[in-house]
Amino acid sequence: MTSFPTQAPDQAQAQNQDQNQDQDRSFLFVLGSSRPDGNTAQLARAAAEHLPAAYGRRWIDLNDLVLPDFQDGRHEGEGWQPGEAEATLHEATVAATDIVIATPLYWYSFSAQTKRYLDYWSGWLTLPGSDFAARMAGRRLWGVTVMADRDEVVAGGLDTSLHHTAAYLKMGYGGILLGNGSRPGQVAADERAMRRAKTFFAGPTPLARFPHEETAEAA
Ligand SMILES: Cc1cc2nc3c(=O)[nH]c(=O)nc-3n(C[C@H](O)[C@H](O)[C@H](O)COP(=O)(O)O)c2cc1C
Repeated sequence: MTSFPTQAPDQAQAQNQDQNQDQDRSFLFVLGSSRPDGNTAQLARAAAEHLPAAYGRRWIDLNDLVLPDFQDGRHEGEGWQPGEAEATLHEATVAATDIVIATPLYWYSFSAQTKRYLDYWSGWLTLPGSDFAARMAGRRLWGVTVMADRDEVVAGGLDTSLHHTAAYLKMGYGGILLGNGSRPGQVAADERAMRRAKTFFAGPTPLARFPHEETAEAA
């Protein structure tokens, strides 16, 4: 077991303050397919190739970590300690200015691996002394997904989930880079996806707002 860091290291605090300065941007790619080197990872890599060289980038394949199902211990007081995989993910998540959720479309939503990772965010938010919410605010969330369906509308549920996750954490949201494919490697033949990959991470990342927040602001 690894002790849980609840206080931000000085370096991370400095990064948080400077996160809007492009030279300090650091991308975390969280790969959530249940198979290695699938279409989603391939599309994410194609997009990452067009990031400015100065940007940091880190890749974590969730299949490489032994991460148990999230157990909701939010209301059980102090003393809870994360396992090694959770500690690794927490450290990588809070160190990134940009988090890329690269999940295949599974049943119109996240893969189980990806959802499990995101469930841990709830635990990190509510630990005694946690500054997870403060750290995530102002950072950026992106999605990359590949699906067998050619109708991109069916990925709307995934887009909404990611957008609302960003809104909850007061993050910017860059949307989802979508691709088509079934067998590993097929996404390479999706010319539209590969074209969009070239500029995806240069796109806008407006602060995500819940619909009710936008309605209240407009009133
Ligand atoms: C469990 C499972 C659920 C899936 N659900 C969907 C789906 O809801 N819609 C869809 O278009 N494709 C679905 N697919 C197809 C995958 O999205 C597609 O094969 C994709 O290329 C897989 O990405 P990967 O190569 O990165 O693993 C599903 C595949 C699996 C294994």
